[in-house]
Amino acid sequence: MKNIAVIGTGYVGLVASAGLAELGNDVTGVDIDAKRINALNDGRIPIYEPGLEAIIENYRSTARIRFTTDAALAISEADIVYIAVGTPSLGDGSADLSAVRAAAATIATNANRAKVVVLKSTVPVGTAESIGDFLRLRSERHLPVVSNPEFLREGHAVQDFLSPDKIVLGTSDDWAREMMLEVYRPLVERGVRIVTCTNETAELCKYVNNAFLATKVAFINEIADLCNAVRADVAVISEALGLDKRISPAFLNPGPGFGGSCFPKDLRALAYVGRAANVPLRLVEEVLEENRQHMMQVAGTLERMLGGLSGRTVGLLGLAFKADTDDVRESPAIAIATELVRRGARVRAFDPRASENASVILRDTVAYCGDEYQAAEDADALVIATEWDRFRTLDLNRIRQLMKGTHLYDTRNLYAPDAVRQAGLTYLGMGRSDFAVIPRKIAMGATS
Ligand code: UGA
Repeated sequence: MKNIAVIGTGYVGLVASAGLAELGNDVTGVDIDAKRINALNDGRIPIYEPGLEAIIENYRSTARIRFTTDAALAISEADIVYIAVGTPSLGDGSADLSAVRAAAATIATNANRAKVVVLKSTVPVGTAESIGDFLRLRSERHLPVVSNPEFLREGHAVQDFLSPDKIVLGTSDDWAREMMLEVYRPLVERGVRIVTCTNETAELCKYVNNAFLATKVAFINEIADLCNAVRADVAVISEALGLDKRISPAFLNPGPGFGGSCFPKDLRALAYVGRAANVPLRLVEEVLEENRQHMMQVAGTLERMLGGLSGRTVGLLGLAFKADTDDVRESPAIAIATELVRRGARVRAFDPRASENASVILRDTVAYCGDEYQAAEDADALVIATEWDRFRTLDLNRIRQLMKGTHLYDTRNLYAPDAVRQAGLTYLGMGRSDFAVIPRKIAMGATS
C-alpha cells in the first residue's frame, strides 16, 4: 500500500483516485478549486461516469480517499504524486502545459523526501524530461518522473482503469519503476501487460494510440461517404473488415465524426509536434481535415434532402460527443446543431445527460426538449447524433405522427433501414442510405 497524492480532480484525476484506492492505496485528491473540493467532500461528484460515484463514496467513508486544497500536506505525506491536470489545446494546436508546470512547482516546494512524480496528463514528447530538469533545479530531493499515460474511455473509465489492455510506464529511474510496478501489481497478477520504456516513448505512445484509433474512425467515415454515393452498405463492410483479425472490429462504426476532449486535441498536438520536429505527419493532418468536413456534411445533406433549411425545423437527438457521458467538448452533435442554425433551421434538441453542458455553448440558439418525442414535434427532419441506448428503441410510429416531415437521419446507424421505412419515414444513414445515385461512368466501368 502506498500513500498517493493525485493533483487535479478533473476527469482523469478522479478516475485515477478511485482506481488507485481500489488497488489498495491511500489516496488524497488535491485541487486548487475550493468549490470542487467542497462538493467532493459533500459526496457530490462533478462529472458523470458510470461506477465512479459508488467507488469514491465507498472509500471516502473509510477515509481511503480524501479530498483537499492543502497541496502541501498531501504532497508531504505522499510516496507518489500523480499529476492529472488538464492540457488543453492552444491556438496553434500545441498543448498548454501551464497547469502541469504549476503542479510541478508545488511538488518541488513541498517535497520533504524522495517521491515518485507520475505524469498522467497527456503531454507532448519531452515534457517529462523538462519537468525532471525543473524538479532537480528547484528541489534537493530525489523526484524522478514516470510517464504513465492513460487510455481511459469516457463512459468506461473506471472499468478501463481496473482492467486495462496495457499499462505504459516510461522512466529511466529504477527506483521509480519498481515503485510503480508495486502500485500496479494487483493488475499484473490478473494478467495485465506492462510496457516499460523511456519517458519519450511513453509520451509519444499515448498520442499515437489515439491517432491510430481516430484514423480508423475517419477512414470508415470516408468509406461511408463513398457507400452513400454508390449505394453500398458500410455496415456490412465494417463487419467484413472486423472479421479480419489483423484489423479488429473496434472503432469501425461510422458516425457524424469523432469528437470529445481527446482525439481532436491529441491529433492537433501530434501534428504540431511533427511540424516542430520537421517531420510533417501528413496522415494525421488529413485525418483532422477529413473529420472536419465529415461533420459539416450532415447539415449539407439535410439541406439538399429538404430543398433548403431556412425556416425548417430539425429535431436533434443527442448533444454529447458519444453515449454514456455528459461531455460535449468538440461534440459532433454541437457542430451539427451550430451548422443547422447557421443555415437557417430551427433546432429542437434532446439529450438525456448533456443538455446543461451543451447550453453553455449553444445558449438559446436551439430549443432544449424534455424527451425525444418533444424534439420530434413538427420537425421536418429528425437527426440521431449520439448513440444513447434509449434512441435505439424509439416508437417510430409515434415519431412519424409527431413529425411534419419524414426524414430520419440516423448518423450512428442505430436502425435497420427497413424498420424505419415501415413506419413511413425516409431513412438516411451513414453510408447505407437509399437516396444515392451511382454515377453512370462508375457503373459502366468507363474511364473517362
Ligand atoms: C479516447 C480513447 O479511446 C481512450 O483510450 C483515451 O484514453 C482517451 O481518448 C483519452 O485520450 O483520454 P474517449 O475520448 O472517451 O477515449 O472516446 P472514444 O470512445 O475513443 O471515442 C472518440 C470519438 O470517436 C467519439 O466521438 C466516438 O463517437 C467516435 N467513434 C468511436 C466513432 O465514431 N466510431 C467508432 O467506432 C468509435
